[in-house]
Amino acid sequence: MSDKRLKDFQINDSFTGCFALRQCQKRTKNNGEPFLAMELGDSSGRLPAVYWEADAGEIFEQIADAKVVYIVGIITEFRDKPQVTVREIRIPQSEEFDADELLPKGDIPPEKLAIELRNIIETVSDEWFSALLAKIFGDEEILRKFLETPAGKLWHGAYVGGLAEHSINVAKICELTASFFPVCRREPLIAGALLHDLGKIEELSADSHFDYTAEGRLIGHIVLGYQRVRSVIASIDGFPKGLADEIFHMILSHHGDGDKGSPVPPITLEASILHHADALESQANAFKHVIERDMAKPGEFSEWVRPVGRFLFIDHYRGGEE
Ligand SMILES: [Fe+2]
Ligand SMILES: [Fe+2]
Repeated sequence: MSDKRLKDFQINDSFTGCFALRQCQKRTKNNGEPFLAMELGDSSGRLPAVYWEADAGEIFEQIADAKVVYIVGIITEFRDKPQVTVREIRIPQSEEFDADELLPKGDIPPEKLAIELRNIIETVSDEWFSALLAKIFGDEEILRKFLETPAGKLWHGAYVGGLAEHSINVAKICELTASFFPVCRREPLIAGALLHDLGKIEELSADSHFDYTAEGRLIGHIVLGYQRVRSVIASIDGFPKGLADEIFHMILSHHGDGDKGSPVPPITLEASILHHADALESQANAFKHVIERDMAKPGEFSEWVRPVGRFLFIDHYRGGEE
C-alpha cells in the first residue's frame, strides 16, 4: 500500500504503492503510438493517470482487467488539475495490498449502523412487517452486504456503509414526516424505508472500488430489490397480499415519476413520503460530500457538480471569518 493517500499528494510528489484501477483505456498519441489513460482510486478519492512509455500496448494487455495495480509514479499537472504520470505499473502480489483498505469509509462504523438498524426494526410492531424485516436482516449474508455496500458509486453515500446509513436516515425522515399526518400508515412506511434500496446489495460491487455489477446494469436495484423482497414474502406463510403489494409499491415507485427509473409513480401517501425522503437524504448527503471535498480549495464555489448541473456556493462553510 502507499503510505500516503491520493488526496494528500501535491504536484511533483513521487510515490509508489497499490491503488484500485477504476478505469484503463488504450489510446493513441499524435505519433500513432499507444498510451494508457487510467483512473486510480483509494480510500481518499480518485485521480486520472497516464502511462506514456513505449511498452504501453503490452502493459495494457497485462493490466486491462486488473482491479488493483502497483504504481511507481509522480504527480503532474494537466489543465490545472493533478494527475498521475505513471513510470512503472504492474499487477501486485496479493500480500502487497489489502483491497478493503482501498475503499472509501463512512463516518459511522458498521457496528454502530447495525445497532441503529436493529433499533429501528424493533419499533415495527405489526406482525407481518416485523416478520419480513426479521427474515431479511436476520440473514447474515444480506446484513453483511447491507452494511458494506455504498448507497451510490460516486454521487451520494459512495463509501462502505453508505447504503445502511442512507436507509436509516430515510427511515428517520419518514418517521418524522409521518408524525405530521395521522392518516399515514407508519408501519409499512418504516419497513419500506429500510427495504427501498435493498437491491443495491446486488447492483453494486465493492471489491477494491465501487462499480455496477452486470445484473445491476441489466436489471437495476429497483427490480432487484422487488424480486428479493417478493421471494422472502413468498416464504412467509400467510403474508397478506394487500400488505405485500403496499411494500412492493413503495420499492417500485421510490424514484418517483418522470424518467428516474421507477416503473410506477407513487400513488399512496406512504410511497410519496418515501420518495421525497429518499431524494432529500440523497441530495443532502451529496451536497455535504461536495462541501467537504472542495472546502480546502480556493474560490467561493465548488467544482461543477454534474448530477445537479450547477456549482454549489461553499464559501460560508469555511470557519473563522465572521
Ligand atoms: Fe433507489
Ligand atoms: Fe434510496
